[in-house]
Amino acid sequence: MRMRAAVLEQFGAPLAVQEIDLADPKKGEVLVRLVACGVCHTDMYTASGADPSGYAPAVLGHEGAGVVEAVGQDVKDVKVGDHVVTLFSPQCRECVHCLSPRTNLCMAIREQQNKGYLPDGTARLSRGGDPIRHFMGTSTFAEYTVMPEIALAKVSPEAPLDRACLFACGLSTGLGAAMYTAKVEAGSTCVVFGAGMVGLGAVAGARLQGAERIICVDLSDDRLELAKGQGATDTWVSSEDIVQRILDETGGYGADYTFEATGLVHVMRQAVESARMGWGLCTVAGVAGKGETLDIVPRYLITGRRVAGSSFGGVKGRDQVPQLVQRYLDGDIDVDPFVSHKLTLDDVNRGFELMHAQDGIRSVIDF
Ligand SMILES: NC(=O)c1ccc[n+]([C@@H]2O[C@H](COP(=O)([O-])OP(=O)(O)OC[C@H]3O[C@@H](n4cnc5c(N)ncnc54)[C@H](O)[C@@H]3O)[C@@H](O)[C@H]2O)c1
Ligand SMILES: [Zn+2]
Ligand SMILES: [Zn+2]
Repeated sequence: MRMRAAVLEQFGAPLAVQEIDLADPKKGEVLVRLVACGVCHTDMYTASGADPSGYAPAVLGHEGAGVVEAVGQDVKDVKVGDHVVTLFSPQCRECVHCLSPRTNLCMAIREQQNKGYLPDGTARLSRGGDPIRHFMGTSTFAEYTVMPEIALAKVSPEAPLDRACLFACGLSTGLGAAMYTAKVEAGSTCVVFGAGMVGLGAVAGARLQGAERIICVDLSDDRLELAKGQGATDTWVSSEDIVQRILDETGGYGADYTFEATGLVHVMRQAVESARMGWGLCTVAGVAGKGETLDIVPRYLITGRRVAGSSFGGVKGRDQVPQLVQRYLDGDIDVDPFVSHKLTLDDVNRGFELMHAQDGIRSVIDF
């Protein structure tokens, strides 16, 4: 079929919206009609050329939600008409990692996905007979996409898809960091560094877990205002002595749980150093620049602090994204304030500009 898609032709240049071809779903694959898609940092990072593993031409986009239009052979868990959220982090339910409750890092299709292909090593996207590669296994800056069944979460049809799409990446990453990676205990004190989509999600996740005190730290007053709406009890503009301030306000010990959601290694260090002596857990969700390292004085670890990394919030996508969407429908998560701009696919590059200017939390493309 023919469809419109935003193609990364050349790093550093705007995406080019154009008609390209999409082949039918093969065995285990599903054709999804996109209804909404958020614009995330990883799309912009890849488009800029800063990501050394990036490739072109490719169709970007990974924060998608839509409706199943057709299914390939042997597809069991979704049917035509189902509402789905796309998963760059799939869940095959069979690999050694899927069978462990300790991680969400499914191994089933990783290798081909990283190269830009569907699990059988080929692309469904093409132009004039030449293949165009898939991005993050999702390629949702397009009217349609073909994805493996194991990379789709079936969600309640009651959830508006322009809200549900945020659960495809940023929001689930933040919620999950608090709920599934850190497993915040009720009554605890949490500090969240960064009040973007991921940090605000972590604030909400800490609240859902029953945290008593949730301190959110950012540089922007506007963003800290949003953090209040998600349940932050304290909102602080960061400063050079932020670690000391956190220690001073927690009896000199530090917080039970800290979260880093900025992607800045010096903030990761602050998050480690403001975790509580004895049992403080620092969860790192931000993606640092290529080659950067996190500097930790070992004494912080030997005196009982722990550090955990969190990819997609530790969320096992097919099982847990539907549960998170249900909590939104139940009124437990306020998603509306995150959708700051609505765009058309033709305006996708404007989404990057808005993100660069830190204007709003998320731009969502309506198809
Ligand atoms: N682990 C994952 O699976 C995953 C998924 C999505 C995004 N991410 C990463 O998470 C990070 C956050 O993503 P986002 O969409 O929320 O980004 P964002 O840019 O919207 O938010 C980052 C926030 O950090 C704040 N900030 C900057 N310097 C700070 C400082 N010194 N102290 C405190 N706050 C500071 C900014 O003001 C901003 O509000 C990025 O690195 C992104 O790549 C990770
Ligand atoms: Zn993302
Ligand atoms: Zn798996």
